[in-house]
Amino acid sequence: MIFRQLFDSVSGTYTYLLASRPGGEALIIDPVLEKVDRYLQLVRELDLKLVKAVDTHLHADHITGLGALRDHTQCITVMGEQTKADVVAMRVSDGDRVTIEGLSLDVLYTPGHTDDSYSYVMGNRVFTGDTLLIRGTGRTDFQNGDPRAQYDSIFNKLLRLPDETLLYPAHDYKGDTVSTIGEEKRFNPRLRVKSIDEYVQLMNSLNLPNPKMMDVAVPANVRIGFHQDEIARKGWAVAASEALDMRGRTDVTLVDLREKSERERHGAIPGSIHAPYPALQENLDAGGMLHALAVAAGKRIIFYCAFGERSAMAVQAAQDAGLKTASHIEGGFDAWKKTGGPIVH
Ligand SMILES: [Fe+2]
Repeated sequence: MIFRQLFDSVSGTYTYLLASRPGGEALIIDPVLEKVDRYLQLVRELDLKLVKAVDTHLHADHITGLGALRDHTQCITVMGEQTKADVVAMRVSDGDRVTIEGLSLDVLYTPGHTDDSYSYVMGNRVFTGDTLLIRGTGRTDFQNGDPRAQYDSIFNKLLRLPDETLLYPAHDYKGDTVSTIGEEKRFNPRLRVKSIDEYVQLMNSLNLPNPKMMDVAVPANVRIGFHQDEIARKGWAVAASEALDMRGRTDVTLVDLREKSERERHGAIPGSIHAPYPALQENLDAGGMLHALAVAAGKRIIFYCAFGERSAMAVQAAQDAGLKTASHIEGGFDAWKKTGGPIVH
C-alpha cells in the first residue's frame, strides 16, 4: 500500500495520498491549491491514477486543490452533504464508504469545527480533519462551528475507535505528524474536561484571531466553479425537465455514472443504465458498451450523476471519443428529483 503524508508549510496543512498499489488508483485527502503541481508529479512518479479528491471540510486557512486536481485529472471531488462548496461531485454522509481500487474509507460525520466536518476511517488509520488534532481540537468559533457538536463528535465517535488507531489530522503547527486515539485520550489537554458544558466553556474562551487567509480562502472554496457551465455553453446539456420529456424515447439512453452505493441510497432514474464513472473510458472506447450504443445502435446518450459534475466531464470525454450526440442532465439526479421525475429503488 502507498501512504504519503504531504505538508504545506504556509498553512500547516497535511495532505494524504493513498493507493493500494503502484500503478493503481489513488485518492487524496485535503489537497492545497499551491501544491497541486507537486501532487500531480508524485502521482506520475508513482504511476498512479488519481480518481478521487476528498476535503474533510470547507477550509478557512488555504484554498483547496480540489478544483485544480479535477481539472487536471478528471477525478471525482468528494465532500460531506452539508458543504456549501459548489465543486463537489460526490456528497457523502455518515455511514457511507468512499472506495477506490483496493481501498475503502468509512465516512464518519464529525461536525463541530464546521458543520461540514467529516472524518474518514481506513483500517487502523483515521483522518480527522480539524475535528481532533494532535493534543488539540479544531476551533469552533466560525463557519457554523459548534463546541457541543464537536464534543459529541470527539467523545462519542472518534474516541470510540480502538486505542491503537493512528490519528492523522489535517493540520499541525508544532511538527507532530501522527498520534493514536489512545494517546489523545490520555494526553490531549482539551479532552480533560468533566462535562460537555466544561468543554463548551473552554472552546468559547479561546479568543483566537481569524486565520490570515480566511477572507480569501472561504469564498474561494465555496465557489470554485463547475465544469458544467462550460458544457452548457457548448450546447451539450439538457435540463432535467427536458430529460423528463424524453423518457421512453427509443433513440435515447440515459446513463447513470454514479456508484452502486449512491444508487442504492438515493435511487435511480427508471430505465437508465448503470455505467460507473471510473470505468468511463473503457465504455467509450471502440468495443465498449457506450460506444456500441451510440455508434452501432445509434442511441443518443444522456449522462447523469449526482449533481452534474461527473456527467459534465463524461460528456467532454464522450465528445472527444467521437460520440457527437452525447449530452448530460444539468444538475444531475438532484435536479431530476427537484423536477419531480420518477425514481426507482
Ligand atoms: Fe479547518
